[in-house]
Amino acid sequence: MADYRVKIAGVEFENPIIAASGSYGFGREYGQFYSLDEIGGISVKGLTLIPREGNDAPRIAETPMGILNSVGLQNPGVDYFLEHELPFLKQFKTKVIANIAGNTIEEYCRMAEKISDSAVDMIEMNISCPNVKEGGVAFGVCPATVEEITHAVRQYAKKPLIVKLSPNVTDITETARAAEAGGADAVSLINTLTGMAIDIHTRRPILHNNIGGLSGPAVKPVAVRMVWQVRQAVNIPIIGMGGISGGEDAVEFLLAGANAVAVGTHHFVDPMAAVRVMEGIKNYMDAYQIERVSDLTGKVQPY
Ligand code: FUM
Repeated sequence: MADYRVKIAGVEFENPIIAASGSYGFGREYGQFYSLDEIGGISVKGLTLIPREGNDAPRIAETPMGILNSVGLQNPGVDYFLEHELPFLKQFKTKVIANIAGNTIEEYCRMAEKISDSAVDMIEMNISCPNVKEGGVAFGVCPATVEEITHAVRQYAKKPLIVKLSPNVTDITETARAAEAGGADAVSLINTLTGMAIDIHTRRPILHNNIGGLSGPAVKPVAVRMVWQVRQAVNIPIIGMGGISGGEDAVEFLLAGANAVAVGTHHFVDPMAAVRVMEGIKNYMDAYQIERVSDLTGKVQPY
């Protein structure tokens, strides 16, 4: 029997597949297609201290090989999540990761404190959302700020803390090192790349917010490159994501240095995306007679 389990910051996942935040809501809709026990973890839609309605529509635009989104962190708020969504998720073995975003460092700290008293397994600090006027990526592009906010939230987070990194920087290894120095237990990467699409007939941007975040297969080579670079820069575990739509994509991320992988945008093409990616990893392991999925991490042999 092959071993698909992975351990991240002391938390054991049944397999390395995590549903990426923002692509999976709180899991209820996908739970109609398969048991949520089939995937290792779920990172829930980004939570804020108070509920948010998000940005004005249109806030999704299809692009060649991907989508642009400017959702603007629509969510029911952290208290609603803890009271109404977490009990549903805790019926399953899948690990629950609370993705949090704030306007200020204090808001991140207050959410981390609230979540620390709950059955959530891990906290993912989102300092990379490009679609909000305050907070979000504003905290995630300067290494000194990344270290400061990570250090502050670390004092309140009694759960393992993942820092979700932005690709919209010159050198992602600097922000990864800053997160590690601030006390992060793991990093996740990449969030979306900022982009824009224009309707040439109306001559107006397609997104009401003018710009948004690009995800999907188009970003995969950028994401794999960044995971590979970050693997060489930090010693903490990495959750890799960006354009994974099949098992072979996921294996690339593992070989580049990821300890687990997150499936995001492909959920909008195939609601079974996460389980199909896991099937693909199993097929690869069978073909190459690999017994433990964790043996793939970082095994790329660079020239
Ligand atoms: O706009 C959004 O809700 C996206 C969030 C994110 O990219 O982290």
